[in-house]
Amino acid sequence: MIIRTPKSYDLKETSVTKEDIYFNRRKFLKSSLAAAASGFLGFCPSKNLQAEVQQLSYKTTKWGKTLKPSSFEAITSYNNFYEFGTDKSDPKKNSHLLKPKPWTIEVAGHVEKTGVFDFDELVEKKTLEERIYRMRCVEAWSMVIPWIGVPLNKIIKKLNPSSKAKFVGFTTLKDPTQMPMQNTNILDWPYVEGLRIDEAMNPLTLLAVGLYGKTMPNQNGAPIRLVVPWKYGFKGIKSIVKIEFLSHKPPSSWNIQAPQEYGFYSNVNPNRDHPRWSQKKERRITGQSGFAALFDDKIDTLLFNGYAEEVAHLYKDMDLIKFF
Ligand code: MTE
Repeated sequence: MIIRTPKSYDLKETSVTKEDIYFNRRKFLKSSLAAAASGFLGFCPSKNLQAEVQQLSYKTTKWGKTLKPSSFEAITSYNNFYEFGTDKSDPKKNSHLLKPKPWTIEVAGHVEKTGVFDFDELVEKKTLEERIYRMRCVEAWSMVIPWIGVPLNKIIKKLNPSSKAKFVGFTTLKDPTQMPMQNTNILDWPYVEGLRIDEAMNPLTLLAVGLYGKTMPNQNGAPIRLVVPWKYGFKGIKSIVKIEFLSHKPPSSWNIQAPQEYGFYSNVNPNRDHPRWSQKKERRITGQSGFAALFDDKIDTLLFNGYAEEVAHLYKDMDLIKFF
């Protein structure tokens, strides 16, 4: 993976409106719930706020309530999505070519319900949850992202895989008319990723369809992408068109590209350096403007990105240096 020092313009904070709306909306949701509980039904929020609230309806859960999300601007303008370019600013500039609607997802392999599903058939709106997760990139920067998504295990249970399904493979759209860098050979296309079935079934694993209460921006992997918060960000494959239940380990794009640098597991591990740089610390990108940005400083990277309690049992007999 190419590493480069971010330029100041990458993170320039031009507007904080979106976060204002987001945080006010949280307050609004709380107060409207309280109003409903007290029998006050005549409350009508301002038009804009209502539009924001109606973008996606979802349950808020306990996940990450104490974490302060990075700014909407940082999350949506500092991206890795090589189908649109290798610079962090390229996905925002170029991903308007992607058409996330209509969208179908093929389900294949050792599973009862195979076939091509419409996005809405697979992702039921009532199952959407908000989860605020720490995300750690292999390039030693991190963000905190308020995802909206469905726990992958809910979808897997509906599809009903057989006992032969030991792994789950994911594939990104391949269409060079929408994804212009697929005309080059910077990676083997389409982008592919995989998880062990127990990793896929872990309650933390999400198929995300939005962030900051909005439908997923194209540059973040519209309309649906994987989120595995205890693994390096490249496991979070974007714009998924195929989910396959397999008896063997599926290929993963960065592992194909540079197997000595990127393993299949890719669990966040400060004790296992990348061959070209340390993984002990990370730069938390908050996206704050002005003086506060000076404190976007290095923090210690935690084993499993801080989610050890939830996932360490998945690897209890494994040598995490060997199986990186
Ligand atoms: N998925 C596809 N299809 N193509 C990509 O280039 N980049 C990965 C991952 N998913 C990538 C992808 C990498 S390297 C990272 S760090 C995360 O997406 C970045 O997600 P974000 O831009 O939403 O922060």
